[in-house]
Amino acid sequence: MIQFINVSKSYDGDIVLKDVSFTIEKGEFAFLTGPSGVGKTTLLKLIYCAERADTGEIVVGGWDLKKIRQRTIPYLRRSVGVVFQDFRLLMNKSVFDNVALALRIHDMHPQEIKQYVGDVLREVKLKHKENILPEHLSGGEQQRVVIARAMVSKPTVILADEPTGNLDADTSKAIMGLFREINARGATVLIATHNDSLFHGMGRRVFYLKDAHIEKEVVE
Ligand SMILES: Nc1ncnc2c1ncn2[C@@H]1O[C@H](COP(=O)(O)OP(=O)(O)OP(=O)(O)O)[C@@H](O)[C@H]1O
Ligand SMILES: [Mg+2]
Repeated sequence: MIQFINVSKSYDGDIVLKDVSFTIEKGEFAFLTGPSGVGKTTLLKLIYCAERADTGEIVVGGWDLKKIRQRTIPYLRRSVGVVFQDFRLLMNKSVFDNVALALRIHDMHPQEIKQYVGDVLREVKLKHKENILPEHLSGGEQQRVVIARAMVSKPTVILADEPTGNLDADTSKAIMGLFREINARGATVLIATHNDSLFHGMGRRVFYLKDAHIEKEVVE
């Protein structure tokens, strides 16, 4: 589903990832961890083509990212839902519109948009707040909007970057429960975090990034 073969990436001559290789299977729930600045976000960006690798091969759901054309990238992004580290909610748009925006770029009928958005908002338990602006939501609620936005196009892959960053333990648990549900329905999930309590005891593969490479891969 996601395959890296000897992928290297540097910014202005500074090497962030060097000869990174790994495979994540379809339907897997895996974690990427390592200290701040090690390259977790960069690795996720490579998967949804927000950054391009300098060398190496990346295959995501059948797309060879070295050969993907600019005009094909929106199709890739439709099957790869991203929960960003910094949320990126539009603060002057309602919860509903923030989620719907991910569909409007795909020319969907308004009635169908309403149905899709309603369904995911019910799933993250925010249907009753659909007309509210994100700034009036708690951090955990905002994160659930971000997850709803990533889910709404029914992606086959979900990438989440530090999805419980500023949330308390109980809220984090609820957020992780959502990812488990998404995964149980068949989506491949990859979560980047430096918070090891998220993956301890999960029995999932954890990739440890260190000094620009995957130092080890452990089932925790
Ligand atoms: N667009 C960019 N231009 C230049 N350098 C960058 C850019 N993006 C990231 N970097 C650098 O690449 C390195 C890896 O950054 P990255 O954001 O991938 O780390 P991270 O593991 O996600 O860290 P954190 O846990 O703090 O989120 C850092 O040294 C960062 O400064
Ligand atoms: Mg990061």
